[in-house]
Amino acid sequence: MKRQWWQDAIIYQIYIRSFKDSNNDGIGDFKGATSKLDYLKELGINAIWVSPHYESPMDDNGYDISNFFEVSKDYGTLEDCIEFINEAHKRDIKVIFDLVLNHTSDEHEWFEKAKDPDHPEFDKYHDYYIWQPPKYDELGNRQMPTQWRSWFGGPVWEYNEKTDEYYLHIFSKKMPDLNWRNEEMKKELKEMTQWWIDLGVDGFRVDASNHLEKDWTFPEGHPGYEYFSSLPKHHDYLTEMGVDVFKPNNVMTMGEAGGATKEEALKYCGFENDEFDMLIHFGACWADTVENKVTPGKWAKGELRVKDIKESFNRWHQMLKGEGWNLIYWHNHDHPRVLSHYGNDKEYHNISAKMLCYTLYLMPGTPICYQGEEIGMTNVDYENLTDFRDVEVYTEYENFIKLGATEEVAMQALRDRARDNARNPFQWDDSLHGGFSNSTPWMNTNKNYKTINLQNQLNDDTSVYNTYKQIFKLRKELNIADGSMEFIDLEDNDSYIFRNKLQDTELLVIANFRNRELNIELEIDLEGYIPYVSNYDKREVSKKMTLKPYETQVYKK
Ligand code: GLC
Ligand code: CA
Repeated sequence: MKRQWWQDAIIYQIYIRSFKDSNNDGIGDFKGATSKLDYLKELGINAIWVSPHYESPMDDNGYDISNFFEVSKDYGTLEDCIEFINEAHKRDIKVIFDLVLNHTSDEHEWFEKAKDPDHPEFDKYHDYYIWQPPKYDELGNRQMPTQWRSWFGGPVWEYNEKTDEYYLHIFSKKMPDLNWRNEEMKKELKEMTQWWIDLGVDGFRVDASNHLEKDWTFPEGHPGYEYFSSLPKHHDYLTEMGVDVFKPNNVMTMGEAGGATKEEALKYCGFENDEFDMLIHFGACWADTVENKVTPGKWAKGELRVKDIKESFNRWHQMLKGEGWNLIYWHNHDHPRVLSHYGNDKEYHNISAKMLCYTLYLMPGTPICYQGEEIGMTNVDYENLTDFRDVEVYTEYENFIKLGATEEVAMQALRDRARDNARNPFQWDDSLHGGFSNSTPWMNTNKNYKTINLQNQLNDDTSVYNTYKQIFKLRKELNIADGSMEFIDLEDNDSYIFRNKLQDTELLVIANFRNRELNIELEIDLEGYIPYVSNYDKREVSKKMTLKPYETQVYKK
C-alpha cells in the first residue's frame, strides 16, 4: 500500500462545544476553533477530529442530529465551518469530522414523518427506523418488546402513541436507531457523506459503527447487547460505505468498535479490507473497573491494572502488525481525563502527565491527543448533580440510587467516571472562565484553571505542554509511528517497559505507573542505550533500578 498521510498523523480531537468560544455565548464554536489553529500547528499536530458539529437539539451534545446538512447554530454557520476547513488546510492540517450513521435525533424530519401515520410520506420514512409492537402481560398491561438495555442505562424501547408501537434506541430515547436494511435510507446517508467530502473534509470518525445491524427476531435478553452490537452483517454495511463512498474519494476513516478479535480487527482496518483505515477500540480505557453492585460497570473504580493496559496495546500492535494500521490514544470525550484516571492529578501532576505522554506517544501507530491532555487537564470538581450536563449522567444516577448507592457514593462515581470529566472548557489562561469565554460557559470550568492553564505552561520548558510539543516533534523525526514494539515483562502490574525498534535506532521506555517507589530488574541486554528524555533527571540504565513515583526514563541506541 502507498504511504498514506494518516500513517504519519498526530490527530488532535476538538470537543468543539468546549474548545473556544468566539462570541461569548458560553459555547465553543467554529470561529473559536479557527482562532486556535495556530496554537495547534505550533503544538505539532497535523489532523483534527471535530466532535459532531451538525444541527441538533443537543440531547447527547450533537450525536443526536436533526439535520445532517446544517451546522448547529451553537457552533456558527456553514460558512464558519468551511472557513475552518480552509484555514486548517492552509496550515497543512487535515480535517476529520464525526459521522453519525447509527441513529438520528427524534427531531430529524425523517423521524417526524416516520412516527406520524397522518403524514403523506409516513410509509417511506416509517421504515427508516426500527419498530416493534407492544407485548401484553396476563392482565393486559402493555409491555416493551424486550428487556434490552440502552448504552446510557434504561430501556432501548420508547412507545409511540400514534402507531401503537415502540421504536428502538440503543442510546438516549431522543436518538432513534436507523434501519440499515432499508436501501433508500442507506442511499441518503451515502449522499450526505459525499456532500461533506465535496466540502473538503479529509476524513471521518464513524460513530457507533459496530451497532448498525440488529437481530430482527428480537430475542429476549437483558441487557441483550449481543442482539444489537457487533452482529456479522454490520461488516457488510461498512464495506458498502467503504466501496461506494470512502475509498473512491480517498478519505480517511476511523471506526468505533470494542471487543474485536484479530479476525474482526482485520475486517475493520486491515490493509486489504474496504471498511476503515483505523479503529477506535477502547482497549486500554477501563483498566481499573471492579465488581460493584451500586455503581456497576464502568462506574466502579478499583485498583489500576497496569498489565491490562500493556496487554491491550500489545495485542493490538501484534494483531495489526504488517496487516493493518493501529490507532493509539489515552482517552476521548467518552472517558475520564487520563491524568486523573491513570496518573496522579495532585502531588505528581506534572510528573505523571509526562509519564503518560512518554508511554503513549513513543509507541508505534497513529495517536489521538484529546483537547486539554497536552496541558494536564483533570477530572471535574463538581459538587452538585446539576453541574453535570451529560444525558447519561442523569439516567445512571437514578440507577445508582435505585441500586442502593448513597448520594455521596453516586456523586463520587460521577466525578471519577462521567464523560463530562473530559467535556468541560479548555483552560487557556487564568482569566475568568479560563479564557474560554467571557460569559458563563455551558458547563463550569474546573476551578483549578488558575494554576492549570496553557498560558502558565507556554514559556516553561519543564511544563506538560512543552513535553507534549517536544515528543510530537520526536515522533516525526524518529518516525516512531512505524516502529516495532515489544514489551518487557508484560505480566508485571506496576511497570510499563517497552522497546520500540525504529529504522536506524531503538527506544527503550521504562516507566513506573505507581505513586510509590518501584524496584525493577531488567533481564535484557542494556548495551548501548543512552539516556534520552525523562520526567526526572536523566540517568544511566542498569540491570537493577529503583524508580521514583511515576518516574519514566527513555533511552535511545
Ligand atoms: C459514540 C460517541 C458517544 C455517543 C454515542 C452515541 O460512542 O463517542 O459520545 O454518545 O456514540 O452517538
Ligand atoms: Ca459561541
